[in-house]
Amino acid sequence: MTHSFLWGASTSAFQVEGGYGEGGKGIATTDVRSVPDGIADNKVAADHYHHWKEDVRLMAELGLTLYRFSFNWTRIMGDGKQVNEDGIAFYNGLIDECLKHGITPFPTLYHFEMPQHLVDLYGGWKSRECIDDFVNYAKICFEVFGDRVKMWGTINEQMIAIAAKDLNGNHEANAEQSMKDMYQMSYHMSLAEKKAIKVFRTLVPHGQIGPVCSMQVVYPETPFPEDIRAAKDAQDFLQNCFLDMSIWGRYPQSYTNYLTKNGWFPMIEEGDQEILASIKPDLIGINYYCSTCIRARRKNDDTSKLPPFYRNNLFTLGNNTYLEKTRWMEFGIDPQGLYTGMRDIYERYHLPLIVTENGLAYSDVVENGEIKDEYRIDYLSKHIDQCEQFVKDGYPLLGYSTWSFLDLVSSHQGFGKRYGLVFVDRTDEDAKECKRIPKKSFYWYQNRIKKGLLNEENFD
Ligand code: BG6
Repeated sequence: MTHSFLWGASTSAFQVEGGYGEGGKGIATTDVRSVPDGIADNKVAADHYHHWKEDVRLMAELGLTLYRFSFNWTRIMGDGKQVNEDGIAFYNGLIDECLKHGITPFPTLYHFEMPQHLVDLYGGWKSRECIDDFVNYAKICFEVFGDRVKMWGTINEQMIAIAAKDLNGNHEANAEQSMKDMYQMSYHMSLAEKKAIKVFRTLVPHGQIGPVCSMQVVYPETPFPEDIRAAKDAQDFLQNCFLDMSIWGRYPQSYTNYLTKNGWFPMIEEGDQEILASIKPDLIGINYYCSTCIRARRKNDDTSKLPPFYRNNLFTLGNNTYLEKTRWMEFGIDPQGLYTGMRDIYERYHLPLIVTENGLAYSDVVENGEIKDEYRIDYLSKHIDQCEQFVKDGYPLLGYSTWSFLDLVSSHQGFGKRYGLVFVDRTDEDAKECKRIPKKSFYWYQNRIKKGLLNEENFD
């Protein structure tokens, strides 16, 4: 089958939709999380719930052939159990409108938020019950949308989904228990992903589905052997542990050893291993913003502010002095890292890849009605060049989708941090009318899409 390289843009439901409490939507973990004063919550977001037709029109004007978004579990099943027909109708409208304009819809089932009801009921992902509820939700989605939707993501950035308590709703105060829970939740998610894929095979013939990873391009800070070892551990503990599980159904040995040593290895039931090992995804989604510099931990390092998966191990964050850093891109800008990271992932798993997120955060300003975001154009063009090279070198890359189609609420830093090709006229404190204004990068991307890739013939 020959197909064209897909040119996309991405969003996620809780960051873009708004429509809080409308159309039978239930309460999600992200609706009840506490947000610092002066930072936008998700209740209005970019008000896509009321602007979706206009948004798809803009996508068509841009020339997109792919729209990567997510289903909001609580719009489809308010309490995580009962189907909400209004929610299904909303996504049917969105999907049909995309298809009408030749845009392939690419939804992700789980992008950070989940029904608060399931957290109240049994602790969310802490419980195995969540596996059944997730698989049931996935089954409904496959049944109602699978006739038209053929490309799917399972879980977005499992690493963040399990670690961010305000997203998964688990606020365990005891640090040790919290670590145990995190790894148990991750294990349940992996099992749920596999079971959902099994159902997918029967309901969506010719469909493609896979995980969306937060790609970790890990560089050792120096050639000092301890830094090299630290970087290898980081690669296993921040990325391979999730992808090895998604693709092969097992953890890297180093990770198993780490979890076991700390008493965090998850509880497994009989029969799980067979499910984990026998079901394989079709593709891997790549989210990439920057590379990560890692060094060996020193005696007096304060690591208390680092995310939980940095606990009790040998590595910590280093500093890459070779990269240009900005206010919102504090790890630096590294287009080549996109190529290197994708190459490593392809060589390890031999599955087609698709860039599902890549973009530059900036506090854009409107001047005389225009947003001249040259910095974003520079970032995107350098990253797309790396994709072009990747394809040229014979690797199967299905498409590139930038984060984000339009400005939306950042995962935890509100509306001051913008990624969109389309400006949304609102501030953290005032949602205004959420008027859409295409930025300069919108027109640049439009031309870039028209130009296409030099090597489309690699697409077989
Ligand atoms: C990815 C997420 O981690 O990065 C998105 O999938 C998120 O949901 C994006 O918005 C950018 O991160 P942030 O924190 O700047 O919004």
